Amino acid sequence: MKTMTVEPCTLMIFGALGDLALRKLFPALYQLDRTALLSAEIRVLALDSSAGDGLIQVNRIVEQLRNHVPLHEQDDEVIGRLIDRIAYQCLDFTQQHDYGQLADRLGEGGQLIAYFATPAFLYGGICAGLAGAGLAERTRVVLEKPIGHDLASSRVVNEAVAKFFPEDRTYRIDHYLGKETVQNLVALRFANSLFETQWNQHHISHVEITVAEEVGIEGRWGYFDKAGQLRDMLQNHLLQLLCLIAMDPPSDLSADSIRDEKVKVLKALVPVGLAQLSDSVVRGQYVAGNSLGRVLPGYLEEENANAESDTETFVAMRVEVRNWRWAGMPFYLRTGKRMSEKQSQIVLHFKAPPHYIFAPAQRPLVGNKLIIRLQPNESIELQVMTKEQGLDRGMQLRGGPLQLNLASAPGRNRIPDAYERLILEVMQGNQNLFVRKDEIEHAWTWCDQLITGWEQQGDRPRPYQAGSWGPSASIALMARDGHSWYGDF
Ligand code: BG6
Repeated sequence: MKTMTVEPCTLMIFGALGDLALRKLFPALYQLDRTALLSAEIRVLALDSSAGDGLIQVNRIVEQLRNHVPLHEQDDEVIGRLIDRIAYQCLDFTQQHDYGQLADRLGEGGQLIAYFATPAFLYGGICAGLAGAGLAERTRVVLEKPIGHDLASSRVVNEAVAKFFPEDRTYRIDHYLGKETVQNLVALRFANSLFETQWNQHHISHVEITVAEEVGIEGRWGYFDKAGQLRDMLQNHLLQLLCLIAMDPPSDLSADSIRDEKVKVLKALVPVGLAQLSDSVVRGQYVAGNSLGRVLPGYLEEENANAESDTETFVAMRVEVRNWRWAGMPFYLRTGKRMSEKQSQIVLHFKAPPHYIFAPAQRPLVGNKLIIRLQPNESIELQVMTKEQGLDRGMQLRGGPLQLNLASAPGRNRIPDAYERLILEVMQGNQNLFVRKDEIEHAWTWCDQLITGWEQQGDRPRPYQAGSWGPSASIALMARDGHSWYGDF
């Protein structure tokens, strides 16, 4: 493994007792330490508004850590080291006086990272607090999604941050960009000349991107209901995946070269006007259903639900990218909560050969597929056609996989969580896995027209059973073009 050089720094986690920090950030720091990627000089300052003894709060963090790190990966020595790194400070995010105390504690000099694991409306105030205490100059800020709920509100947040922190010290998280297989997309596309000549609408008939979640709302009804699946998943994770699939080769691996190419894709997304909305987009909301013998409640029956809500928990859509490479070719995006299983995958369907010479009945079989499984069971599979074996089989065709199983690749016994990579990248000052301001703005501009369209239409989302693959209209969405979702059963 490449030795990482991470300069000593202090990582301040704002919202250190919140769900994200406890479930993802501290476990990620633990894993980085366990795999010897965190130098001894890296300190962690956990900041939250709960008063009380610092040691008790650190213990609370560690207790939670034990719930979120697999038992066989728990090592008391590493946990002990992590406890030594962490200090807790009670901080009222809105009180300048508290930032003064923070500055006193941090002393002079040294690289700082401020990770905002808080709601976005607090970001501006925290930035002002850090700047008022003279800490801004040596700080990189990390912003969690969602940044706003539309273009206008995301601008308010970004501008409040930009008053104190330039873009090159602002790291906007989309944790999908830190996933191992998503990273692999860049390697697959740009380190193999095999694909590049085929990677366009001349050779590919359509592309599917599915991010299906088995879980429901997980106690986050209040947050989720204001967002919905379009804002929670599609505006960020799915559009980022689409960008990585559709973008042109960047001239180098620098953050701006990659982000410039992604922005070009976002700008080329064909708008979906009111007239096309019903045919191109399916909104769904889950109702009670079953999965593996378990009865699952509907979205409106979840804890704290408002029974009138028309927030979508599922979106499927047909999207086109209007440029030389992709004009006229459909991308189908689909994401939902409480679906049949957790499955994130991208499937590129290649066109059949121009001249067909095998048995007519087998014609529908022909056409290569490249299946990129992001989770679970990370793998890259190329479906190719071969001949059935045996003297009696003539020239009978069969599809079979050429497979690269990343989850069990040699020398790799675990796939790191996205947050491990992202924290490390911020510490190293690398921005290419983070989202630039203009990317967010173009993504919001495109999603805003869908949201406005839905509001004008006033239709309720279509019901689908919890534990299923979504409303039947999403099957019809592809069927109209003669396609079907790969692997649904
Ligand atoms: C988050 C969403 O960004 O991604 C959650 O807010 C969602 O609602 C989660 O469950 C899914 O992430 P992953 O890595 O489990 O696919």
